[in-house]
Amino acid sequence: MKKLEMLYKGKAKKMYATDEPDVLWVEYMNQATAFNGEKKEQIEGKGSLNNRITSVLFDLLRARGIESHFVRRISDTEQLVRKMDMFPLEIIMRNTAAGSFAKRYGVEEGTPLKKPILEFCVKSDDLGDPFINNDGLVALGIVTEDELAEISRIAYAVNDALTDIFSKIDVRLVDFKIEEGRTSDGAILLADEITPDTCRLWDLKDGNGGKDDDGAIEHLDKDLFRRGLGSIIPAYEEIYARLTALAEAEGVERAE
Ligand code: ADP
Ligand code: TMP
Ligand code: ASP
Repeated sequence: MKKLEMLYKGKAKKMYATDEPDVLWVEYMNQATAFNGEKKEQIEGKGSLNNRITSVLFDLLRARGIESHFVRRISDTEQLVRKMDMFPLEIIMRNTAAGSFAKRYGVEEGTPLKKPILEFCVKSDDLGDPFINNDGLVALGIVTEDELAEISRIAYAVNDALTDIFSKIDVRLVDFKIEEGRTSDGAILLADEITPDTCRLWDLKDGNGGKDDDGAIEHLDKDLFRRGLGSIIPAYEEIYARLTALAEAEGVERAE
């Protein structure tokens, strides 16, 4: 496989064409951003950790019947994926109140939710990724009713599988963001990345629901960076080590 021209440089990844029209070459960068790129830092080792974490997660998901765009990891910081026509959506799933949801409704972070909440935001840096409801998505022609049903089905299935995966490594999956797109043959698939940049992951090792004895959240995710609480690297290394051990214990086939 040959790496050709760069098609897109985002906040966390560069996407390149390859000599296969349906395959993209993805490079994970060390850049960390928050608040729509307002806060920005280079963090040595982040690109490699996220590339490896998302790869093992896509392998663990495949073993649970969930297909994605992931083809295989080709180096520390690079992987091949199927080229998709992306829906311009941030698909957010919440199992526990935290972040913007907790703020919006004035509830304490960590409040359990009686059911998972699926939320959509329109992916637009200019507009700050605004929230949109299901009717809005169809009314604006961003997706059809049928697409929305399939996108939502996949999001709930990913939540079930990820909840199972993280519960097995003593991590509370508080919420996460995914993206989906369409392949050239018309199937809707999970794409982009699943990493501690895009999930809230709280450490359950101490058995306090992800909080320490003083009630402070034990973050293993990008909130460490967003909130200026310390280095993300040891936390991302911990997530990678636990996921790798799980994949090994389950005998999951690794695409690398
Ligand atoms: P952002 O665009 O939010 O700054 P990234 O730096 O992660 O994010 O850039 C990756 C871009 O590639 C995103 O816009 C994402 O929607 C897009 N993308 C992810 N997976 C695929 C895929 N399989 N095919 C085409 N585009 C993809
Ligand atoms: P929020 O509580 O800030 O809305 O975030 C919900 C989840 O989505 C959380 O796991 C972090 C993730 N997320 C992204 O992946 N990208 C983003 O741009 C934002 C705002 C959140
Ligand atoms: N991804 C967004 C940004 O880079 C925000 C976030 O992850 O908090 O600005």
